[in-house]
Amino acid sequence: MRALIPAAGRGTRLRPQTNTKPKSLLRVADKPIIGHILDNLKTTRIKEVIVILGYMKEQIEEYLEENYSNRFDFIFVEQEPRLGLGHAVYVAKEQAIDQPLMILLGDMIFLQTYREMLQKHRKNGECAASIGVKEVDQPQHYGNVEITNGNITRLVEKPATPLSNLAIAGVYIVNDTPLLYRALEQIIENDIQTGEEYQLTDALQRMIDWEASLKTFRVEKWYDCGRKNTLLEANRILLQEKHNNHTKLTHSQPTNTIIIPPVAIAEECQIENSVIGPHVSVAEGVKIKNSIIKNTIIGSHAQIENTNLTNTLIGDEAIVKGTLLELNVGDHASIHLTY
Ligand code: G1P
Repeated sequence: MRALIPAAGRGTRLRPQTNTKPKSLLRVADKPIIGHILDNLKTTRIKEVIVILGYMKEQIEEYLEENYSNRFDFIFVEQEPRLGLGHAVYVAKEQAIDQPLMILLGDMIFLQTYREMLQKHRKNGECAASIGVKEVDQPQHYGNVEITNGNITRLVEKPATPLSNLAIAGVYIVNDTPLLYRALEQIIENDIQTGEEYQLTDALQRMIDWEASLKTFRVEKWYDCGRKNTLLEANRILLQEKHNNHTKLTHSQPTNTIIIPPVAIAEECQIENSVIGPHVSVAEGVKIKNSIIKNTIIGSHAQIENTNLTNTLIGDEAIVKGTLLELNVGDHASIHLTY
């Protein structure tokens, strides 16, 4: 079995962070999103990983080669033009068709292991594919599935009227890879698009139309890192989880600073006279001075001085310097400073 990670998109919902960096390289807790996915993949025996690249592909290639090439063999495939998730999977046909495939969407982090999901898939018995699903409040924002007697009977991408409360969670385990590629090919040849994209969901529906058996498995905690607030939420939860597991998260020694855990601080940071935390992730080489920071992700080599930050994303090499207030506030005064 191989894994396939689509990571070609522009990540427009996460601008400006994604103006200079692909989404999968945005930092959450102690590493980029794609690093979390690959660390989770280490719980399985999968060795070959197909990565679909496009936007700023060199950065992803470099990160993966540098950090994960001793465990995985990467096969990089370029998607150009980018015509949707179904198309992203389709462009790797040649590299993927001859083995079962585990498709992992590049912006979801799961606390559950992929190994556990593969076990659930095996328990499903014979089937063309199993798809991870989760009950959600707003199924219209996701791929949506209808199940009858344990089999998927229908799948619709972001339906106006949902079929159920089950959302496609972004993990697909495909046994019958040739059939999936036949379905993708049909969709592309016949130009069947939903929301102006060739959808993986539509290809899976086609497999059902051809009487293939598609099953589901439940996924538990997932974090969609697709927007600023969900990225910060994933950061909070992963930091807490790692803190609870006693993972070493601090790799630089701050001076004269109060750390409120959970906090991750990478190597070669200089932090002084500050209060950091909770839920702050600091990348390598960051300098922080005289600041109070909580619920924030800070990119490498950023400089922060004399400021108070919350719910904030700061890119690599950015500079944020505030003003320290010097006041002489009289009795009964009420002063509210907002940014
Ligand atoms: C994609 C899939 C959708 C799935 C979702 C999970 O949508 O097309 O079926 O539910 O991922 O995150 P996207 O997030 O690319 O719009």
